[in-house]
Amino acid sequence: MKGAVSVVILCLAMVLAGAAGAAVSGVCSNCHVMHNSRDGSSLSSSPVDHLLVDDCVGCHSTTTASTIESLGGCPVPKVFNTGGYPPSPLAGGNFYYLSQGGGYDRYGHNVLGIASPDSFLTHVPGKLYGGAPKTITECYNCHKMMPGGPFYYPRSGDILICVDCHAEPRHHLDDSAAVVVDGSGGWYRFINWVKGIEDSDWEQTVSSADHNEYLGETAAGGDSFSELACMCHGDFHVFSNPSGVGTGSPWLRHPSDIALPASGEYAAYTVYDPQVPVARPDLSSYSGPSDVVTPGTDQVACVSCHRAHGSPYPDMLRWDYSAMLVNDPTNPAAGTGCFRCHSGKDD
Ligand code: HEC
Ligand code: HEC
Ligand code: HEC
Ligand code: HEC
Ligand code: HEC
Ligand code: HEC
Repeated sequence: MKGAVSVVILCLAMVLAGAAGAAVSGVCSNCHVMHNSRDGSSLSSSPVDHLLVDDCVGCHSTTTASTIESLGGCPVPKVFNTGGYPPSPLAGGNFYYLSQGGGYDRYGHNVLGIASPDSFLTHVPGKLYGGAPKTITECYNCHKMMPGGPFYYPRSGDILICVDCHAEPRHHLDDSAAVVVDGSGGWYRFINWVKGIEDSDWEQTVSSADHNEYLGETAAGGDSFSELACMCHGDFHVFSNPSGVGTGSPWLRHPSDIALPASGEYAAYTVYDPQVPVARPDLSSYSGPSDVVTPGTDQVACVSCHRAHGSPYPDMLRWDYSAMLVNDPTNPAAGTGCFRCHSGKDD
C-alpha cells in the first residue's frame, strides 16, 4: 500500500528531522470511530470523547517494553508499560509502579485506569485552600465549574485523571516549526499555559545536548514550568509562597526557580545532566537544547528532582534519595542527584 508507506516515511522523517512535536498523522480510522461500532462490534465499552477509538490511558499504554510505538505509522509516546518499568522511559517517567498498588502509591501520581486512590496522601500536599488541606474530591467540587483547568471532569474517589494536567489536548496542532512551543502549538505537552522546548522523541534517547528545555522565572507570574505545571502544590513554590519557602538562604523549604549561585559548590555544575535538569529563566535566545549550565542564571526546578508521572523511586524522584550518603568517600551516588548541585557535600 503506497499511501501507508508514505505516511510511515513522513512520520519517520519528522522524527529524524527533530520536529518539536508534530501533529498526529495517518488515516482517521486509526484513531476515530464514527459510531463506536465497526463490523458490528464496539471498540470501547462506552463511546469516548471526540469519537476516539480508545481513551487516554488506552492509547498511551502498551504491554511491551517500548516507549514509542507506531499507530498506522504515527509514533505514539507510551507512558504506562504494563509489563514492567521500561528501560528507556520518557521524560515524565512511567506509571508502571502505580499499577502495583500498596507501597508503590508513593512512586508517582495515582491516575484513574492505572491506580487506586493514593493510600498515603489523603489530601493534596502543598495546597492549603482556606487554610486547610483538601482532598481531590473537595478540589473537584469547587473546580467543576471551571473548564480548561484541573479537576473539571468528574471521577469517583480521590484520584487524578490525565486531563487534570493535560487539560485541553491538541493532537491536531502541528508545532514542528516552533522552537519554544506556546498556545498556538497546544502548549508544552498539552499542559495549559506552559511553554518550553519539546524534545522530538520525548527524551527516549537523552544526553547533555539532547533533551527538553524547561522555562524558569525570576518573579511570580513569569510562566515557569515549576509555577504553572506544578500549581496544585503552589505552597512549595518560591514566588507563590515566599513566607513558606523563604526568600534566600537560610531557606524554609527547598526553593525552585532560584538560580544556582555562581560560587561555592553550585559553580561546579556546568554540563547539563538530563537526570538533574535545570530550568532557564529566558528561553527566547535558544534555538534548541543546550549542553551548557550557567550557574548564576540557570535554576533549580521541580523537575530537577521529580518526574511528572512516576519513577522507580519513592516521592517520584529522579534518583534514589536513600543512596545520597553525605561525606562518604565510598558513596556510589557521587556526582548524581543532590550532589550534582551540592557537590561540596560529596567528599
Ligand atoms: C494518530 C491518531 C489520530 C488520527 C490519525 C486522527 N486523529 Fe483526530 N484526534 C486524535 C486525538 C487523540 C484527538 C483528541 C482531542 C485533541 O487532542 O484534539 C483528536 C481530535 C479530533 C477532532 C476534535 C478536535 C479538533 O482538533 O478539531 C477532530 C474534528 C478530529 N480529530 C478529526 C480527525 C480527522 C477528520 C482525521 C482524519 C483526516 C483525524 N482526526 C485523524 C487523534 C487522531
Ligand atoms: C487514538 C490514540 C490517542 C488517544 C486516544 C490519545 N492520544 Fe495522546 N497522543 C497520540 C499520538 C499519536 C501522539 C503523538 C503525536 C502528537 O504529539 O500529537 C500523542 C501525544 C500526546 C502527548 C504529547 C504531546 C506532545 O507535545 O508531545 C500528550 C501529553 C498526550 N498525547 C496526552 C493525551 C491525553 C491526555 C489523552 C486523553 C484526553 C490522549 N493523549 C489521547 C495518540 C492518542
Ligand atoms: C473553594 C473553591 C476552590 C477549592 C476548594 C479549590 N480551588 Fe483551585 N481554584 C479556585 C478558583 C476560583 C480558581 C481560579 C483562580 C483565578 O485564576 O482567579 C482556582 C485555581 C486553581 C488553579 C490554577 C488553575 C486555574 O484553573 O486557574 C489550580 C492549579 C488549583 N486551583 C488547584 C487546586 C487544588 C489542588 C485544590 C484542592 C487542594 C483546589 N484548587 C481547591 C477555587 C477552588
Ligand atoms: C500530575 C500531572 C500529570 C498527569 C496526571 C498526567 N501527566 Fe502526562 N505529563 C505531565 C507533564 C508535566 C509532562 C511533561 C514531562 C516533562 O517534560 O518532564 C507530561 C508528559 C506526557 C507525555 C509526553 C511524554 C513524556 O513523558 O514527556 C504524554 C504522552 C503524557 N504526558 C500522557 C499522559 C497520560 C496518557 C496521562 C494519564 C494516564 C497523563 N499524561 C497524566 C503531567 C501529567
Ligand atoms: C531539590 C530537590 C527537590 C525539588 C527542587 C523539589 N522537590 Fe519535591 N520532594 C523532594 C524530596 C526529596 C521529597 C521527599 C520528601 C522528603 O523526604 O524530603 C519531595 C516530596 C514532594 C512531595 C510529597 C510531599 C509529601 O507530603 O509526601 C510533593 C507534593 C512535592 N515534593 C512537590 C514538589 C514541587 C511542586 C516542587 C517544585 C515547586 C518540588 N517538589 C521541588 C525533592 C525536591
Ligand atoms: C538543580 C540543582 C539542585 C539540586 C539537584 C538540589 N539542590 Fe538543594 N539547592 C539548590 C539551590 C540553587 C539552593 C539555594 C541556594 C542558595 O540560595 O544559596 C538549594 C538549597 C538547598 C538547601 C538549603 C540551603 C540553605 O542555605 O538554606 C538544602 C538543605 C538543600 N538544597 C538540600 C538538597 C537536597 C537534600 C537535595 C537532593 C534531594 C538537593 N538539595 C538537590 C540547588 C539544588
